[in-house]
Amino acid sequence: MLSRFALPARSSGARLLGAQRRLASTKSLRETLEDIIPAKQEQLKKLKTEHGQTVVGDIKIENIVGGMRGLKAMLWDASVLDPIEGIRFHELSIPDCQKVLPAAPDGKEILPESMLWLLLTGQVPTPEQTCQLSRELAEKGDLPKFVEKLIDELPQSLHPMTQLGIGVAALNHDSAFQSAYEGGIKKTEYWTHTLEDCINLIARLPALAARIYRNVYKPGNDLPAINKDLDLVGNYSNMLGYGNNKNLTEYLRLYIALHGDHEGGNASAHTAHLVGSTLSDPYLSYSAALFALAGPLHGLANQEVLRWQLAMQKELGDKISHDDIRDYLWKTLKSGQVVPGYGHGVLRNPDPRFIALQEFCQAHPDLKESSIVQLVNKTFEVAPDVLKEHGKTKNPYPNVDATSGCVLYHYGLTEFKYYTVIFGVSRALGALTQLVWARALGLPIERPKSFSIDALQKMVQDQKN
Ligand SMILES: CC(C)(COP(=O)(O)OP(=O)(O)OC[C@H]1O[C@@H](n2cnc3c(N)ncnc32)[C@H](O)[C@@H]1OP(=O)(O)O)[C@@H](O)C(=O)NCCC(=O)NCCS
Repeated sequence: MLSRFALPARSSGARLLGAQRRLASTKSLRETLEDIIPAKQEQLKKLKTEHGQTVVGDIKIENIVGGMRGLKAMLWDASVLDPIEGIRFHELSIPDCQKVLPAAPDGKEILPESMLWLLLTGQVPTPEQTCQLSRELAEKGDLPKFVEKLIDELPQSLHPMTQLGIGVAALNHDSAFQSAYEGGIKKTEYWTHTLEDCINLIARLPALAARIYRNVYKPGNDLPAINKDLDLVGNYSNMLGYGNNKNLTEYLRLYIALHGDHEGGNASAHTAHLVGSTLSDPYLSYSAALFALAGPLHGLANQEVLRWQLAMQKELGDKISHDDIRDYLWKTLKSGQVVPGYGHGVLRNPDPRFIALQEFCQAHPDLKESSIVQLVNKTFEVAPDVLKEHGKTKNPYPNVDATSGCVLYHYGLTEFKYYTVIFGVSRALGALTQLVWARALGLPIERPKSFSIDALQKMVQDQKN
């Protein structure tokens, strides 16, 4: 089944050549941004002045009452989601990224640092630039003592996502943007302080997320110190206690890189953008985004998928046939529940991130043989037809969450309430990138117009008359 939906052949030649040509620089991330921001500012200014009144779409009642689906209403530069093809990061598809973005010295998978660089700058970093960024993140990765204490005091029973949101919000104690703003800075300087906060936050997420994991699931265990020679996920994996599992560390790198951005309209990215538009600092903005991510229709779906697949395995035993899965799917649907990991607000094809993660499994013999990985794959062979017959969802195919948890589970990271935290570590790459750009481009506070049902009905009536 997987081969039917294989990812597009690696590299669309011209695009890739373009990306590789962008390799030459030896500049730091900040210097690279300093170079490219003026041209983007100019581009936006020209667009606003010359085409501000150009109409690019209609607004229908169904957009307003249907969660703003399909409404063209947000500026988001780093990634675009095509319903059929899936995500592109600055025009690079997932296979393109797998080809050009640097990996760890001992690995093959994309380093999230290189994805962050691509998202922020539209350029492919050299291995040296990636390494330099890894070092900067490691050097800035320690948590302030008061945040450690705060997290340690939280009840073990508090959901890990709630803990993560609390920890991220508390980090705003040291916000460079907030203190510069209070001191009085020019609008043109906003982005540099925002960048400083964003880098600090990304650097600290692994220590925060690992501390939550330790406190909730492995109390009493020591947390290793951050190794300055390791990449962000190498350190995260180490602190989670899985540092010597090379496959799991590589999987986490791939998952965190690929999950880093998915356009702007998804609930967590949009929340960060909305809150950031009030000039709340990146910590507060991203903390708000994490609470959007904590909803079961969004980031929490990955925990739900595993719970559902394990319940299926428990009920049906080891030798599960396609017919068994079909019956189980119908049972779920007839009880009024959604099939977790299937469907999407935008995608209308299997999610290429699902395909890429499944390909990772197929490339590792132990994962290929894993009963939970096989069950996820087998479910994929049956579920689209069942969902088509059910006839409700616009997209009967799997999204990334259909598979994201099974590798973690196979390697012993079985605490699936924690899985959305890993998603939260990942999504910071894209959401924080846009906060830097929102400040660089001087985007205003968001303020869409709302209407009551009566007002909408009146508009309909007025058009009829
Ligand atoms: C992702 C999701 C929230 C998108 O929602 P959406 O944009 O409203 O999706 P659709 O327009 O296709 O929904 C139309 C109908 O199909 C239903 N539907 C969508 N996905 C479904 C699924 N996986 N199983 C059963 N029914 C589903 C919806 O609940 C809706 O039913 P309703 O008309 O009774 O309200 C939805 O597909 C879902 O709930 N999926 C399961 C959770 C999940 O995997 N989330 C992770 C997303 S990355």
